[in-house]
Amino acid sequence: MTEARERDGRDAAGARPYVLLNMASTADGRASVQGRAGPIGDRADSALLHGLRTIADGLLVGAGTVRAEHYARVLRGEQDRQARRAYGLSAELPTFIVSGSMRLAPEEVPLLAEPQAPVTVVTPAEQGLASCPAQPGYLRCRRGEELDLGLALRRIHAEHGVGTLLCEGGPHLAGQLLAEGLVDELFLCLAPKIAGGEERLRIVAGRELDPPLQMELIALHEHESSLFARYRLAR
Ligand SMILES: NC(=O)c1ccc[n+]([C@@H]2O[C@H](COP(=O)([O-])OP(=O)(O)OC[C@H]3O[C@@H](n4cnc5c(N)ncnc54)[C@H](OP(=O)(O)O)[C@@H]3O)[C@@H](O)[C@H]2O)c1
Repeated sequence: MTEARERDGRDAAGARPYVLLNMASTADGRASVQGRAGPIGDRADSALLHGLRTIADGLLVGAGTVRAEHYARVLRGEQDRQARRAYGLSAELPTFIVSGSMRLAPEEVPLLAEPQAPVTVVTPAEQGLASCPAQPGYLRCRRGEELDLGLALRRIHAEHGVGTLLCEGGPHLAGQLLAEGLVDELFLCLAPKIAGGEERLRIVAGRELDPPLQMELIALHEHESSLFARYRLAR
């Protein structure tokens, strides 16, 4: 998995981190079940998620996901911190949360109740969060009134030294990153589950990608009927 770290991300405007997008889907395309991604993956999916967190320089995630999943400490404990140190990384995983509304509070996002958590809010907004123990920093990146995600990634690279950035979605953030050509690889867990129902959230949401983005399969593993595909996005 560490070879995922060995590349450089780059776009027309300059250096950005190499971006790994990690998502899970049921066999019928659902990205959430009763509002959570947890019921989709299994223990192997969780092990992959934590393995990727161990080798990444930074974690990017949308506010919808940290609220729905009640994000807490992103590392499992001292074992993960030691593994990160062994890779020459910071012991804690810097976490970048994308939000416009600033509707982020420790009651809903326990990570914000952690004084040692290195959290940065990526936002187009001028305001900040209400005071919380994590005391987050802010990356304010605007293009007009909107968030400039490309600029945000370049600043995450230049100002936070992030070479490999893991993105855990959610679907709306993933859709924007893909639309702007800011994703280098997709790690997709296809779970052997069918959830049915009317909920339409898939792993990528937002505007249609037309033409569809082309990917190349670079690895495929099976574990207890889950398929783990690793794709490279065509440049
Ligand atoms: N299956 C999977 O692999 C997977 C992975 C992750 C999440 N999920 C599921 O996906 C659901 C959440 O979906 P989602 O698409 O709403 O999550 P999301 O992409 O994590 O969050 C969307 C939110 O991120 C902020 N945001 C995104 N782009 C922005 C921009 N350009 N400017 C300003 N703010 C921006 C906004 O936060 P504010 O509202 O604060 O402004 C927006 O409401 C949950 O049910 C979760 O369980 C599934």
